[in-house]
Amino acid sequence: MKTLETERLILRDWESRDSDDLFAILSNPAVSLSEGASPVESKEKSNAVLDYMIRKKNGYAIELKSTGSVIGGIGLNEDAKGDKTARNLGFYLAEEYWNRGLMTEALTVVIANAKEITDKLSATQYNNPKSEHLLNKMGFQQAGVLRNVKRKIDAEPHDEPYYLLIL
Ligand SMILES: CC(C)(COP(=O)(O)OP(=O)(O)OC[C@H]1O[C@@H](n2cnc3c(N)ncnc32)[C@H](O)[C@@H]1OP(=O)(O)O)[C@@H](O)C(=O)NCCC(=O)NCCS
Repeated sequence: MKTLETERLILRDWESRDSDDLFAILSNPAVSLSEGASPVESKEKSNAVLDYMIRKKNGYAIELKSTGSVIGGIGLNEDAKGDKTARNLGFYLAEEYWNRGLMTEALTVVIANAKEITDKLSATQYNNPKSEHLLNKMGFQQAGVLRNVKRKIDAEPHDEPYYLLIL
C-alpha cells in the first residue's frame, strides 16, 4: 500500500519488525473480543497473522510517530457479502491509545486515499457502539443486514448491520 502520513501517525505496510507490537495488541482481550475474535495466546499465532498481512498487503500498520511503535492496524479485506467492487474496512488500536482521536485521524486519511484501491468501502460491527459511532462519523450508512453471522467467539449466529461508503 502507499504509505500515508498524518500529524501523529504513519500508515504503512506491515513488516516483520512489528512482531512484538502486534502481539501486544492482539493478546489484549479488550481489543480482540471487540472484533469478535479470541485474544491471541502466543507469539507464534500473532506472527502467523503478521506473515499473512505482509504477504497480502491489504491494509496498514499504524505507527505512532512519537515512539516509532506500531499501535494498531487498518484492514481493507474482502467484502463480507462477497461484493468484488467493495473492500471491508476493519480497524483496531492498542487499548492504551483509545479515545485520543487517533483512529479518527487514521481513518480520515485512509478513506481519502481509498479511491485508488476500490469504489466503495463496506464495514460491519456487532454490539460495538464505539465502532458504530466512528463508522457513522466517517460517513458510512447502513445498507443492509448480514444474517446468521458467527464470529469466532460466538456460540450462536446473529444478525449484524452492514454499512457502505461510496467513494
Ligand atoms: C474502535 C477503536 C478503533 C476506536 O479507536 P479510537 O482511537 O479510540 O477512536 P477515536 O478516539 O478516534 O474516536 C472514538 C469516538 O468514539 C466515541 N466513543 C467513545 N466511547 C464510546 C462509546 N462507548 N459509545 C459510542 N461512542 C463512543 C468518542 O467520543 C469518539 O467520538 P468523537 O470523536 O465524535 O467524540 C478502538 O476503541 C479499538 O481498537 N477498539 C477495539 C477493537 C474494535 O472494536 N474495533 C472495531 C471492530 S468493528
